[in-house]
Amino acid sequence: MNSAANPLRDAEDRRLPRIAGPSGLVIFGVTGDLSRKKLMPAIYDLANRGLLPPGFSLVGFARRDWENEDFAQVVHDAVREHARTEFREEVWRQLSEGMRFVPGVFDDDDAFENLRATIEDLNKCRGTGGNYAFYLSIPPKFFPTVVSQLKRHGLSDAPEGSWRRAIIEKPFGHDLTSARELNAVVHEVFQPDQVFRIDHYLGKETVQNILALRFANTMFEPLWNRGYVDHVQITMAEDIGIGGRAGYYDGIGSARDVIQNHLLQLLALTAMEEPSSFDARALLTEKLKVLNSVRLPADLGLHTVRGQYAAGWQGGRKVLGYTEEEGIDPHSRTDTYAAMRLGIDNRRWAGVPFYLRTGKRLGRRVTEIAVVFQRAPHSPFDTTDTQELGQNALVIRVQPDEGITIRFGSKVPGTQMEIRDVTMDFAYGESFTESSPEAYERLILDVLLGDANLFPRPQEVERSWEILDPIEEYWDAHGTPEPYAAGTWGPAAADEMLARDGRSWRRP
Ligand SMILES: NC(=O)c1ccc[n+]([C@@H]2O[C@H](COP(=O)([O-])OP(=O)(O)OC[C@H]3O[C@@H](n4cnc5c(N)ncnc54)[C@H](OP(=O)(O)O)[C@@H]3O)[C@@H](O)[C@H]2O)c1
Repeated sequence: MNSAANPLRDAEDRRLPRIAGPSGLVIFGVTGDLSRKKLMPAIYDLANRGLLPPGFSLVGFARRDWENEDFAQVVHDAVREHARTEFREEVWRQLSEGMRFVPGVFDDDDAFENLRATIEDLNKCRGTGGNYAFYLSIPPKFFPTVVSQLKRHGLSDAPEGSWRRAIIEKPFGHDLTSARELNAVVHEVFQPDQVFRIDHYLGKETVQNILALRFANTMFEPLWNRGYVDHVQITMAEDIGIGGRAGYYDGIGSARDVIQNHLLQLLALTAMEEPSSFDARALLTEKLKVLNSVRLPADLGLHTVRGQYAAGWQGGRKVLGYTEEEGIDPHSRTDTYAAMRLGIDNRRWAGVPFYLRTGKRLGRRVTEIAVVFQRAPHSPFDTTDTQELGQNALVIRVQPDEGITIRFGSKVPGTQMEIRDVTMDFAYGESFTESSPEAYERLILDVLLGDANLFPRPQEVERSWEILDPIEEYWDAHGTPEPYAAGTWGPAAADEMLARDGRSWRRP
């Protein structure tokens, strides 16, 4: 029956959970930080929510002398420590029966033959149907080796009636040239629809809610343009330093690590036009259109800022400066803070600045998008009555404390007509009983279902590098990052950048 003919059935279908069909996941880099803290717990949480098939199988590939049981114990410990949902013995038993370990290094042909045999065996004993996703949770320099090994050993080609997919972690290249080279290598082996590039921000409920907020309501979109919006601030602030990630971070820096992917994706979702549907192709069309309209400031010296944290205080304890951290070159010029003003050259946004900033060792951990509205064109109130009134703002709180805040002016009770800012809040935790799944739960399930909506396509990745590359080149050629004390909100130059425009950064 045509579903349009039966609205009741349609309504029921939307409430049914999306459950993955017969399948398995192979994780390369299974001993790594990401795998332990995010991937293994996400797989357990999916199993616990009943969203994985009964025969789901997990294969770990790493350079360890482990048996299957040792691997299962490692997963067990990671799940006990990091899973979001409660531990249930029966769920664990069923999941752990499908765990296998393949020891080896990436250029070891025998190890890949062993992997092939393991998968064939799982097809028979667990009914995985030959459907496998390969998760490359490894240092990016090994992406090409692993992808070609998968090809060489016949693992990338799906047997008739089954599928093979590759999941690739960020960073996807370190500039436009390297991203193009990597895309070329990956596409020599996998078709475009077999490749899922992770930007875990897109797996967050709050990020998907940007689309719901904008396009499922009538009250926001009429204001969402240059007629009403003064500017937009997109912030991802971390209070931690680089932790144990010195090897990865030094030479990469905050703009490549965060702005090229997460913040430009947030900008695209905030600024794009309504897509014709919530389907990967339609989303790509709109995201790419707006990314193509992004314009760099004419003077990169005035409208971009990079910083590097110096020693300071955080959470009541003294912390080291970036160049004093273990494993960091004491003369490193790597940015741990980056801010920039971008424009969008289209009819909706002409003249509205989008300020992006990210940094480590800032005052608080927070990610938010603040749409700041223009002041009322005329005020009938006395200026002394409105001196504590800021600009209206709509703030999408991506993390932590997910929700939306609207800031507007309200009369102070008991005064003649004093007006001050108040806020109206929506918090996920208060409005919905179910807690939000972790981004990786959503994304792994989407891969197993072949749903590519929440994965950036190669064109977006390349365009994002095209935006960032001139800024990185300018920074390379001009001076060193501005120091800022750990625990503060970044270098003074970033405040000056906004002050010159008559604005200031939010202090979330
Ligand atoms: N950690 C995060 O929060 C995070 C966030 C976003 C993206 N990512 C991305 O996720 C990926 C993994 O990150 P991670 O933090 O988990 O890295 P990691 O802790 O350094 O782990 C890297 C993994 O790769 C393995 N490996 C490295 N060289 C190898 C070789 N020559 N042969 C075989 N295995 C090798 C390591 O095995 P050994 O244990 O044997 O060294 C380990 O399992 C990276 O692409 C990273 O950029 C991570």
